Amino acid sequence: MSLIQLISFPPLGDDRGSLVALESQQSIPFDIKRVYYIFGTQQGVARGFHAHRQLKQVAVCVTGRCRMVLDDGEFREEVWLDSATKGIFIEDMVWHEMHDFSDDCVLLVLANQLYDESDYIRDYTNFKELASD
Ligand code: TYD
Repeated sequence: MSLIQLISFPPLGDDRGSLVALESQQSIPFDIKRVYYIFGTQQGVARGFHAHRQLKQVAVCVTGRCRMVLDDGEFREEVWLDSATKGIFIEDMVWHEMHDFSDDCVLLVLANQLYDESDYIRDYTNFKELASD
């Protein structure tokens, strides 16, 4: 299976504009426990550079774009998040980096757990070791 698992969110549009609804165990493949968003990212800044031991997430650029890099310790793939109707599923034990944020980018992230720093793996060498176990 590809590392890049994109999810299409059907827009519920009418002549007033568009609307996307995200629901647990429907378009989002888990129970949503936390929502956060990244915005105002300075030019040239890249974020992420970590994996999670257990956390699963879906990310979508609701405005603007950024380039998402995923790495499972063996393969590295990337994709542009550039649509409010395109999400990416980031499974546990997948290293992720976000690059090339547009000035207007708002990256919305849905997660299946509350914030827990001990769930982070922030060292790439450590991640590679754990991923190969
Ligand atoms: P961090 O995970 O380092 O952001 P990035 O996506 O760039 O890797 O988070 C930045 C800061 O925000 C850090 O101090 C942890 C804090 N934080 C929370 O308190 N709650 C959260 O849900 C998230 C994602 C981060």
